[in-house]
Amino acid sequence: MCGIVGYTGKSSALSPVLEGLRRLEYRGYDSAGIALTLKPGAPLWVEKRAGKLENLEGSLTPDVPKSHSGIGHTRWATHGGPTDTNAHPHLDNEGKLALIHNGIIENYVELRAALEAKGHTFKSETDTESVVHLLSDARKAHNGDLAAAMRDICQELRGSFTLLAIHSDDPERIVGARRNSPLVVGVGDGENFLASDVAAFIAHTKRALELGQDEVVDITPSSITITDLLGNILPHNEYEISWDASAAERGGYTHFMLKEIYEQPKAILDTLIGRTAGLDASITSALNFEAVSKVVIIACGTAYHAGLVGKYAIEKWAGIPVDVEYASEYRYRDPSVDGSTLVIPISQSGETMDTLMAMRYAKTHGAQVFSVCNTNGSTIPRESDAVLYTHAGPEIAVASTKAFATQLIAMYLVGLHLGLARGVITPEFVTQMGDELSELPAKVEQVLETVEPLRELTRKFKDSSSMLFLGRHVGFPTALEGALKLKELAYMHAEGFPGGELKHGPIALIDQGTPVIAIMPAAGSLLAEKMASNVQEVKARGAVVIAISDGPVPAADHVIRIPSAHEFLQPVLSVVPLQVIAYEMALARGNDVDQPRNLAKSVTVE
Ligand code: AGP
Repeated sequence: MCGIVGYTGKSSALSPVLEGLRRLEYRGYDSAGIALTLKPGAPLWVEKRAGKLENLEGSLTPDVPKSHSGIGHTRWATHGGPTDTNAHPHLDNEGKLALIHNGIIENYVELRAALEAKGHTFKSETDTESVVHLLSDARKAHNGDLAAAMRDICQELRGSFTLLAIHSDDPERIVGARRNSPLVVGVGDGENFLASDVAAFIAHTKRALELGQDEVVDITPSSITITDLLGNILPHNEYEISWDASAAERGGYTHFMLKEIYEQPKAILDTLIGRTAGLDASITSALNFEAVSKVVIIACGTAYHAGLVGKYAIEKWAGIPVDVEYASEYRYRDPSVDGSTLVIPISQSGETMDTLMAMRYAKTHGAQVFSVCNTNGSTIPRESDAVLYTHAGPEIAVASTKAFATQLIAMYLVGLHLGLARGVITPEFVTQMGDELSELPAKVEQVLETVEPLRELTRKFKDSSSMLFLGRHVGFPTALEGALKLKELAYMHAEGFPGGELKHGPIALIDQGTPVIAIMPAAGSLLAEKMASNVQEVKARGAVVIAISDGPVPAADHVIRIPSAHEFLQPVLSVVPLQVIAYEMALARGNDVDQPRNLAKSVTVE
């Protein structure tokens, strides 16, 4: 995700744009930049810096020229590391057109090649820069009509985008467009705003217009025009913003964690874009898959649980042994590592010291390193041979939710790519699984529509001393993840077990009223029957069972129904109720949801 702001109006633009970026910095903080229009025809004023917004603010001197219109951007890097050059805004070759972008342009490579062949010169590694050169040509073809040009290029772009553009020949105008990425209009008095979300301008106006899919907006200080891509004028659906400024930064959600739970469909969609038919050579070219005879996944906490799910998929689809190691334990047992080992560090932050040190150990012993990371340009991907970035956007809450979902997606993509490269699975199977993966965002949405009753159900157990989680196959790592969520949010003892392991000791923990969550395998499967027996076993000893299932579970006290999915993909769906239960339990116990006690978002000590 990135933060996007545009202002045009009676005031100096610098202040509202900077203020908007401050309120949106949680959406991305790899780099920040601003472009301002000056007199008609004069080159734009542009300043952009890697790092947090304070770096940009620190670079601004009192002689910033006065301007009444400008755009600003805080970046969450997807293509190209967090550098000054890759920071937005990006400019055309004349320096008169500036553009900022939130999202992922899937066909940027082919667009760039065509534009370079036409003589455009590029400076950055970003997907966005292809768009500004495309827009520059389209604007010339439309005799300077920036809105008409924007409508044109939107029909050539594939992927997700929010775009804002300004041109020095028309200094009061800002043109925007959106597809699968948010853009709202702030309606002022003699001034108008554009932003990724209302947090950017709520201090100035509570009047807002929502933009729909594939719509183009054209604003000046005194006008707002919204059209479809064919140029048909669309009505304004104005609404009053009911949030206060701090709530707006959470998108109206009470906590970042809840917002991030609900962002999972979009995070999954963005992580899948352009990858369901196999990973691009730009990701994997540095790796020699033919030499790989073993995979070792190293990670911590939630990322470790994603790795455990990945083991099932990669072993099955790539026919290769996979070990999953706690990073903090790995290097202290002097593991056997060489060039035939593909080490996969999984890390949301890319800075977890345990994972970094384990990766360095493996590298010095000759392993190939293919990291899965959510933070572009962080240490772990920088020291890897290759990286598969998840596109979950910034995850602010300490408890990982959308990052976990995208780590699972990354595991599936690696398994499919490795299996195809090793000739274990066919392109047809990859296509079939690509279709299954592409259904996940909508299926997660379905689950999110049914979680409301979990608030009341969770409160029944708020005074329990512990909660047990049972799963089989990929449901077992899911059980571990559910237990971790409850521990870190509710400060309640919780433990995950393989269902078949209960009878070897843990069943002694069951007492009258012990809450047990059973993550059921696909209804009708052999494992589902075995899990049903486990449910009976714990019920017989007084447990209260909450089952998460895509089918009926007669013996359970409560059943949380989820859609069916391929057995390996089920954790993406079954983990959502577990996240919500942990969230609700934290609320019920009066805990700090986004910053639970004793924890940090990124553990940069060993
Ligand atoms: C999960 O909710 C925790 N925040 C924690 O277990 C986390 O997953 C772990 O510290 C790994 O962090 P990383 O993904 O940034 O490496």
